[in-house]
Amino acid sequence: MRTQVAIIGGGPSGLLLSQLLHRHGIDSVVLERKTKEYVLGRIRAGVLEQGLVRLMEEAGCGARMQAEGFEHRGTLIAHGGESFRVDFAGLTGKPVMIYGQTEVTRDLYAARESAGGRIDFNVADVTIHDADSDTPHVSYSIDGAPRRLDCDFIAGCDGFHGVSRQAIPLEVRRDYEKIYPFGWLGILSKTPPVNHELVYANSDRGFALCSMRNEQLSRYYIQCSLSDHPEDWTDEAFWEELKRRIPPEQAEKLVTGPSIEKSIAPLRSFVTEPMRWGRLFLCGDAAHIVPPTGAKGLNTAASDVNYLYRALREFYEKNSAQGIDAYSKKALARVWKAERFSWWFSSLLHRYPEQSAFDLKIQTAELEFLRSNRAAQQAMAENYVGLPY
Ligand code: FAD
Ligand code: DHB
Repeated sequence: MRTQVAIIGGGPSGLLLSQLLHRHGIDSVVLERKTKEYVLGRIRAGVLEQGLVRLMEEAGCGARMQAEGFEHRGTLIAHGGESFRVDFAGLTGKPVMIYGQTEVTRDLYAARESAGGRIDFNVADVTIHDADSDTPHVSYSIDGAPRRLDCDFIAGCDGFHGVSRQAIPLEVRRDYEKIYPFGWLGILSKTPPVNHELVYANSDRGFALCSMRNEQLSRYYIQCSLSDHPEDWTDEAFWEELKRRIPPEQAEKLVTGPSIEKSIAPLRSFVTEPMRWGRLFLCGDAAHIVPPTGAKGLNTAASDVNYLYRALREFYEKNSAQGIDAYSKKALARVWKAERFSWWFSSLLHRYPEQSAFDLKIQTAELEFLRSNRAAQQAMAENYVGLPY
């Protein structure tokens, strides 16, 4: 089989890239290790930057998001039992969109299916060949039967544990990593959100976040130990701990109920450079990971897709390699800014085991500065709503 772009990974990056290329007559095949149901069962990001909203529209997938998503024009930051609001819309002119990654992915699958796009599920043994030549190909198997996909380019959209990044030789690649000494325990519950906007809380007992998917579906997170397991936490214990970490005013009106999903995510900052090797291009979590604080993971994946899709169009439509040659540098420049913001926002809001009394005072001073200083809020808001592509 032959295609123009072989896309490894059927998560949001791979599907969005495939659909955007399709809209401009560029053919691709998506190879996904799991089933569609499995991919749609993963509860992940919930906040979309305008850049991603625009890309979904450009992909012809914006209708349900516009109808069912919620625009948020600010967020609350809580500390010491009180909270203050950062007014994104007032400071930057831009809101963010509340619409789950699950729904983004569902809409993209629907669009690929109705366009007759090819997605091979349950693929195994995916191997990249000759990425440093003009004739790369991907070999894989389905139910033990070997397959081969010849292509012009390979897009590695296979997440942090995928094979694409590993295909770049170690002499060429450099990884940068920071592991955080805690995780996030998250639950989804069919309860009305505690506040109409998100609440990011710094408390003596650790970080907490009150988020949502819609008016009847809430998403809450608390900082937890890396040795915790979701099954160690009863729903009651989770709600009690959350209440102790958010301002009393919110805790009193928190509506609790049974969790419909409960999971723990470790926190990591990671970047690999370069994001291109020959005819292989990395996109999204395959190339970088951020700690979730500030919701930059999915949004940074989307900005990579934006650069790569435009570069590939330039190649096919104008016969120019300028875009693909600039891809890695351009994508990484924005990636590192998202890494910085996520690292900073994490350091502002969490309790670190090694934090000294001095460190805690500095953290409080930084929160106070953010509360009282418009320029500091502007910098935070510009990063949160998303830096320009
Ligand atoms: P992925 O979503 O990881 O998709 C990669 C796809 O490739 C997967 O479907 C996988 O099955 C497939 N794949 C992997 N290996 C292979 C292979 N060898 N062959 C074929 N297919 C393969 N971000 C936020 O902004 N907010 C959050 O709250 C948040 N929570 C998260 C919680 C968890 C547990 C994780 C892991 C991530 C979270 N993120 C969050 C990050 C965000 O979800 C990711 O940034 C986003 O999913 C990146 O999309 P992607 O398509 O690049 O990668
Ligand atoms: C969500 C996750 C985040 O990491 C974040 O900063 C905001 C919202 C969420 O899952 O809703």
